[in-house]
Amino acid sequence: TTPAPTSAEPGADPASSLLVRACRRSQGEGLPVWFMRQAGRSLPEYRKVREGIAMLDSCARPDLVAEITMQPVRRYGVDAAIFYSDIMVPLKAAGVDLDIVPGRGPVIAEPVRDRAGLDRLVPPEPGDLSFVTEAVGLLVAELGATPLIGFAGAPFTLASYLVEGGPSKDYARTKALMVGDPALWAELCTRLARLSAHFLRTQVDAGASAVQLFDSWAGSLSAADYTASALPWSTSVLAEVTDVPRIHFGVGTGELLALMGEAGADVVGVDWRIPLATATDRLGPAYAVQGNLDPALLGAPWPVVEERVREAIRSGASAPGHIFNLGHGVPPETDPDVLARVVDLVHAEGPAIRAD
Ligand code: CP3
Repeated sequence: TTPAPTSAEPGADPASSLLVRACRRSQGEGLPVWFMRQAGRSLPEYRKVREGIAMLDSCARPDLVAEITMQPVRRYGVDAAIFYSDIMVPLKAAGVDLDIVPGRGPVIAEPVRDRAGLDRLVPPEPGDLSFVTEAVGLLVAELGATPLIGFAGAPFTLASYLVEGGPSKDYARTKALMVGDPALWAELCTRLARLSAHFLRTQVDAGASAVQLFDSWAGSLSAADYTASALPWSTSVLAEVTDVPRIHFGVGTGELLALMGEAGADVVGVDWRIPLATATDRLGPAYAVQGNLDPALLGAPWPVVEERVREAIRSGASAPGHIFNLGHGVPPETDPDVLARVVDLVHAEGPAIRAD
């Protein structure tokens, strides 16, 4: 018998990987799995290589980026790598004074709330993300047939950090600017869209096989506000990378799924608040779905986790394509052995459950 192609085999191609086929709604009964934040603090090998190195400094070192991106691929045998970086990296390259504070998130030295703030954002220039190009190149060579997912932050989510100055619960200043000064908001989002598009384009040009646009906090908006004040700029970002499959994700976006599809996605990411079958009803047959195990359940006893994984697979079986994932990122306290068991379960039982 012919062994299944492995990543090391010449001729094996990420363009025909299970992940890319699922994005294209032609996965058959196979079920690909990866995890948002699969690289990071839940892995002891990550904590070890990051020791004494600041998050944003690590993102600028291609050797470290490649090593950290590969760690979960080696450990879990997931069906995709996600580029180790951060949604704030292109903003830093554009001159924004920012830091990523462990346990807190991005913190901006001078929040952007007026025209002078806007002028501190310099447009992207060719070569300013050369460390990204280099890291993606290393990864594509090492990954072989395993696809690399590139990513960027959507303008609304990036703007929320820039305007608030850091993480926020209610996005009150962001929304006040959004509805109070639509012209300034439009200009801010236009600039952020260019930076995110440039970040995505750089990753795709260097060999990423798919992209995910993270609009993590868009679920805080009504459908009307999302349509008027977020969607146009997310659409313009996704329009720059039509040559690869596009995944569009946010948290708490059950009411926005169809709009997020219309922004130009092939796959819409779904959190744990609605079943994948409900998401599929809302999206229609033109979109694949990604998700949606509640990450907070990963600490529950295995028989419970196992049943919830099967339930998500069953619910996703009505979608024209399904990529198994969590409903949001891996929590830092997660036991990696549980994620390993989830991957094995998805691979072992996914095809039969989907076929059922
Ligand atoms: O494995 C992966 O998913 C790849 C890399 C990745 C990171 N950030 C690494 C990271 C990705 C895709 C992101 C995206 C990102 N960054 C998002 C969108 C995804 C989401 O969670 O909704 C957002 C909102 C950010 C901003 C950000 N950066 C936050 C909120 C935090 C967490 C702060 C904390 O310490 O809890 C970060 C830091 C960050 N980004 C870490 C990692 C591995 C932790 C940094 C550390 O090790 O201290």
